[in-house]
Formats: sequence, C-alpha cells, structure tokens
Amino acid sequence: MSNLVDFSQRSLWISAASILFNPTFWNIAAQQASREATRKLTLLAAEYHNKVITKLFGGNARLGCYGLAVTIFSLGIFRDYLYHEALALQPTHPALLSPLVKYSAIPLFLTGNTLVLTSMYALGVTGTYLGDYFGILMDEPVTSFPFNVSEAPMYHGSTLSFLATALWFGKPAGVLLTGLVAVAYSVARRWEDPFTGMIYAKRDEERRKGKKGL
Ligand SMILES: *[C@@H]1O[C@H](CO)[C@@H](O)[C@H](O)[C@H]1NC(C)=O
Repeated sequence: MSNLVDFSQRSLWISAASILFNPTFWNIAAQQASREATRKLTLLAAEYHNKVITKLFGGNARLGCYGLAVTIFSLGIFRDYLYHEALALQPTHPALLSPLVKYSAIPLFLTGNTLVLTSMYALGVTGTYLGDYFGILMDEPVTSFPFNVSEAPMYHGSTLSFLATALWFGKPAGVLLTGLVAVAYSVARRWEDPFTGMIYAKRDEERRKGKKGL
C-alpha cells in the first residue's frame, strides 16, 4: 500500500477531512433548521426558537435555504480543489496509466456530471439543498430522469466524478479517497432519507386532516 498511496502527505489527510466534513456540516445545519420547520407543519402558531439558520436570514425560510445552498456549493468547490491538490502530490500507478483506464474516465465523468446537473435541474435550488428541511416541500416526489435511474443521483454522480478524476490522473490515492466519498454519502443518506420521509409523512398527515376539516 505504501507505494500506492503516500500517507505522509498532509494534503491527503486534509482532502479526507474535507470529504468527511461536508455532508456532516450540511446534515447538522439542515437538521437544525428542520427542528422548527417540522414543528411549523404541526403547530401553525409555533414560535421559532431553534431556527438558527433561518433567523440569520431574517426569518425567511427560502433565504435561509439559499444561504445554505451557497455555503454547501462553495464547500463542494473547495473540497474538489483540495482533492486535486492532494492527488497532485500522490504517486501514479502504471496499471492506472493504461489508455483503457485513462479513457474510461471520460464516460464516468460525463455520466457523473449528467446525474448531478440533471438532478439539480429537476429539483431546483430548494429541492437540491434540503429545502424540505426548511419546510419548503415539493408537491410530489420527483420521479423523472435522473430519479428513474438512480435513488440518489446527486451522490452517485458526485462519487463517479471523484472516481473519474482518480483514473484520469492514474492515482490509487484518488480511488481510496473516492471510497471515502462513497462512505460519507452513504452515512449521510442513512440520516437524510428517514428524515425526509418523516417530513413528508407529517405533511401528508396534515393534508388528510385538512381535507377532513373542509
Ligand atoms: C428515465 O426517464 C427518461 C426520460 O425521462 C427515459 O428516456 C428513460 O428511458 C427512463 N429510464 C428508465 C430506466 O426508466
């Protein structure tokens, strides 16, 4: 392993830390926002004590979500930059330098970016950046492309892009960091999926009650 990955490089550990930090950050931030947003769904006259992010933006859930979107997006760019910096100092491996491996990076990269960009387009800004946590819910679940080919196209697409970069530059360390990305996303989904499910289940319950009231 030691000639595949140079663990003595600080940049490798910094890149690993940023990969782990990002989904951790947005889950903590969004769950903070949702604590009150879910209360809002059940108690119409709820007071917003914990709505930290939303409060920062003058109590407007949509602005709060946009602020989080800009932050998550910037953190993502920074994480990608740190990843490239880390790979630059890592050894290449001859097996990864074969044209077959190198050029397989192109369809992987295109597939990854297609999944990320089309899911952003399908969800919109608030849908992409955990708007439902702020109480900005979608009317219906999105089932159009790319959600008909992947359960989590944003995460799968992003992971593919990391892998493509590793293969393009022939860096085993990149493959290792891609594995870390996959783990970080799968842990994030284990948090997010039940949370999102709960938010929508609550909404549907309120809708049913509302209909009965009419
Ligand atoms: C997903 O949707 C796209 C267009 O909306 C369609 O072309 C494609 O065949 C669908 N794929 C699957 C697996 O259903």
